Amino acid sequence: MSSTVSYSLQDNIGVINVNNPPVNALSHAVRQGLLDAITTAQSDASEAVVIVCEGRTFIAGADITEFGKPLQSPWLPELLDTIEASTKLVVAAIHGTALGGGFETALAAHYRCAIPSAKVGFPEVKLGLLPGAGGTQRTPRLAGVKASLDLITTGAPITAGQAEKIGLIDKIIDGDLQEGAINWVKELIADGVPIRRSSEQAVPDYEASIFDDYRAALEKRARGQIAPARIVSAVEAAATSTFEDGLAVERELFMECMGSSQSAGMRHLFFAERQASKIDGLAKDTPKRPVASVGIIGGGTMGGGIAMSFANAGIPVTMIEISDEALQRGLSIIERNYAGSVKRGKISEDKAVACRALISGSTDYAALADVDMVVEAVFEDPDLKKKIFTQLDAVCKLGAILATNTSYQDVNAIAAATSRPEDVIGMHFFSPAHIMKLLEVVRGEKTADDVLATVMALAKKIRKVAVVSGVCYGFIGNRMLRPYGKTAQLLLLEGASPQQVDAAMETWGMAMGPMRVFDLAGLDIGYSARKALTDEQKGDPRSYRVPDLLVEAGRLGQKSGAGFYAYDDKRRAIPDPAVDELIAAAAAEFGMERREISDDEIVDRLISALVDEGRKILDEGIAQRSSDIDVVYIYGYGFPVSRGGPMFYADQQ
Ligand code: 3HC
Ligand code: NAI
Repeated sequence: MSSTVSYSLQDNIGVINVNNPPVNALSHAVRQGLLDAITTAQSDASEAVVIVCEGRTFIAGADITEFGKPLQSPWLPELLDTIEASTKLVVAAIHGTALGGGFETALAAHYRCAIPSAKVGFPEVKLGLLPGAGGTQRTPRLAGVKASLDLITTGAPITAGQAEKIGLIDKIIDGDLQEGAINWVKELIADGVPIRRSSEQAVPDYEASIFDDYRAALEKRARGQIAPARIVSAVEAAATSTFEDGLAVERELFMECMGSSQSAGMRHLFFAERQASKIDGLAKDTPKRPVASVGIIGGGTMGGGIAMSFANAGIPVTMIEISDEALQRGLSIIERNYAGSVKRGKISEDKAVACRALISGSTDYAALADVDMVVEAVFEDPDLKKKIFTQLDAVCKLGAILATNTSYQDVNAIAAATSRPEDVIGMHFFSPAHIMKLLEVVRGEKTADDVLATVMALAKKIRKVAVVSGVCYGFIGNRMLRPYGKTAQLLLLEGASPQQVDAAMETWGMAMGPMRVFDLAGLDIGYSARKALTDEQKGDPRSYRVPDLLVEAGRLGQKSGAGFYAYDDKRRAIPDPAVDELIAAAAAEFGMERREISDDEIVDRLISALVDEGRKILDEGIAQRSSDIDVVYIYGYGFPVSRGGPMFYADQQ
């Protein structure tokens, strides 16, 4: 066989065993090994074959590291045709996650069994792809068109139980999987159960309008992405043509997606996200401190969401506020958020109740004496933060990790307010903190290695994507946002309108254009922050003149009903001629001649502003690697996934 696939006879059953850590991806060696094993089984003493995997999971997909390289035979569709054509019964035995090409392998077997904790699915869409080895053709023949479209267009895995209900799994095995699978196959043989090839099954009836309905819905849900509509076409081909013809359609669409810049960007993000968790110079086996309880200071916008993030992962939280009223307000916002999540079907009522019960509150810092970690989320006031850290130093037990959620302040100065700067770190969550995936972990000059390692591991536990940043004003994300925002202001004075700038960026793929972001955040925040700065710190006056004038005219953004736009009672942004006049007047103040600006120029200049700052951040060692910056922008700032992040995009250009 090969070093990654072994084959042995156990009684009258041929057992093919895949062992390619960490996730049994279908590398060339695995494909060759599987082909050799299934070929051997055709002419040996076996009566049936079981495919099973070692380690933590069944095959988790094609080997993504081989994408974009020359194909090496046997390629997956060929291998799966051979497995399906086997004249001996083939059963796949699933544990962990059977994903993508891994699940396609299971669907090419004649029957499938799984342990209850197993999950199956097609995450290809998250890589800008569609299943390329018969997944779009075999799944509808077993589960019907609707279930297949749901499974393949969302990319979300389903449990073995759910898969059994829709016909993708035939048997749930309790206890030892391999033993259970072998016993089940013996029963199938004894009962004379015939070989059942997925490709030979008829697609069950479906609603005629279903494909157009999905296309329309996906155009909204996955705006700008090319893979989802192609998935619908491939499933449509399964329903309306022969298996062979459908397979040819799938292949053509798969190759088209594989060659797209979108998929390249999304594959880049897949590895960038995993790379981000690795820290240069920090040994993998760095010890971690136990974090079984957390204190949060401040129950405002951020504190509440941060508390929920920990509670959702089963970690009890004590929230400290300045007064009983503030505490009650904070706790009731948390309750409302949980109720909202239940209403939107995000979590069950029971889970919401259990999570809420993990959050308690106090107005007394002494309640933090025994917690393993504290996250401070009070107003963005450096003196207040330092005062609080001095207080924490006095009440918290030795070894407790002391984190600040500051957006901009100097983590080293905050650490210096304690007698234990090695225990201090930045944990910069994004709003709403219980939903946004990004966490910037700010490593102070004196932050201890085990504190950093603990926070990185904890981030995974609370389901955040963590990126390490050094200390500087605004860390990675907000620091890059400054030149981006300033460039957007200059574009207005030079001749663009707020709606043109936003439309150009949103059409390009940003979740929200910069002017709408300013309005959402509130223009008064930047206005008051500027008050504390010298002219030199404020920089080019043209870069803040318009927002200053807006605030002085009482236009603070969405919250006051007007900012760069007017807002109706449904908070819809409406272009406002008064703003155009205000911009024209500001341009005149600086003697600027306004001109026509193209959408391409807007996109180029704004993205260049991000990238230039990103390069400085790399040069200064604030970010470890360029792909970390991409992760920050995609998970924290609505940068389009399909463009792979600002630095990846710039490299591609
Ligand atoms: N190919 C190559 N490497 C892979 C891989 C894959 N399909 N899946 C995971 N890895 C690597 C990761 O890069 C990581 O490497 P590292 O340790 O060097 O950073 C390592 O395996 C472990 O991965 P995770 O950190 O993600 O481990 P988890 O335990 O958190 O998650 C998992 C396991 C759920 C399997 C997750 O890795 C995952 O979702 N993998 C991707 C699955 C996927 O997208 N499959 C479809 C591929 S496309 C396809 O199959 C096309 C086909 O239709 C033709
Ligand atoms: P907020 O104003 O909504 O909440 C701050 C809370 O802290 C208030 O409820 C206040 O009563 C409480 N507080 C003040 N002093 C306190 C003290 N001494 N002890 C206990 N509680 C005290 O502010 P928000 O938006 O939650 O911001 C908090 C921190 O998070 C800031 O440092 C901010 O820069 C940062 N941040 C904010 C983001 C946002 O989008 N709002 C995003 C990321 C970080």
